[in-house]
Amino acid sequence: MIGVFDSGVGGLTVIKPLIEYFYSDIIYLGDTARVPYGSKSKETIIKYSIENTRFLLNKGVDFIIVACNTASSLAIETLRSVFDVPIFGVVESTAKVASEFDSIAVIGTKATIESNAYKKTIKMFNKNAQIEQRACPLFVPLIEEGLINDEITKIVAKRYLDGINSQSLVLGCTHYPLIKNIIQDILPNINIIDSGTSLIDTIDKNMLKGNNKIEFYVTDSPENFSKIGKLFLGKDFNGVNLVDLEDL
Ligand code: DGL
Repeated sequence: MIGVFDSGVGGLTVIKPLIEYFYSDIIYLGDTARVPYGSKSKETIIKYSIENTRFLLNKGVDFIIVACNTASSLAIETLRSVFDVPIFGVVESTAKVASEFDSIAVIGTKATIESNAYKKTIKMFNKNAQIEQRACPLFVPLIEEGLINDEITKIVAKRYLDGINSQSLVLGCTHYPLIKNIIQDILPNINIIDSGTSLIDTIDKNMLKGNNKIEFYVTDSPENFSKIGKLFLGKDFNGVNLVDLEDL
């Protein structure tokens, strides 16, 4: 059983291929009461990440996928030092894929960009890479609101992406694949690297196999989560459970 967490619907972009190709058994936690993480301090992101991991381990998962770039950038080392199970994050694997290009743009939350986690990790693999980074703080709230094919999201995306001129673009937030079409329309010639897909390529496939048994938990608004989640997973899913992490 795999434990996966994100601040909201973004992590669904990571579990989609797990469900489709590996029939993984998953317990998913979306911390929708506290989204967005990307505007919070390192201390707060670490605290939330520890609580999320503890919740998933109490549910009996064997290992953790941090399906959130913000938590991967700021909390993964602490999580690995606190918990004695394998913990996979999205930054290392995505940076490795990105480092095959010589010019790379990275977009993410404010916390992810300010941590320079991508910049440092890409440089480890390709020290000559030209890297430009941009925080796109409005994307996550727009996506959580379900404004996925909306004019307002297109206008915001044009403003954020204006002038990017790299060979590749890292979607350094697991929410962003939900608006990948909008991004690709604005930058038609760029190679888009999606952090969820890159992560799966680095995990032993035997650890991913299962019977597609999936449980969803959120810390607020299960209805909203199912509504947006359905759009993305392309199918209904039953019973999103509301959970209070303070009860642990
Ligand atoms: N999907 C997350 C990420 O990859 C979290 C975004 C947020 O909560 O701000 O960074």
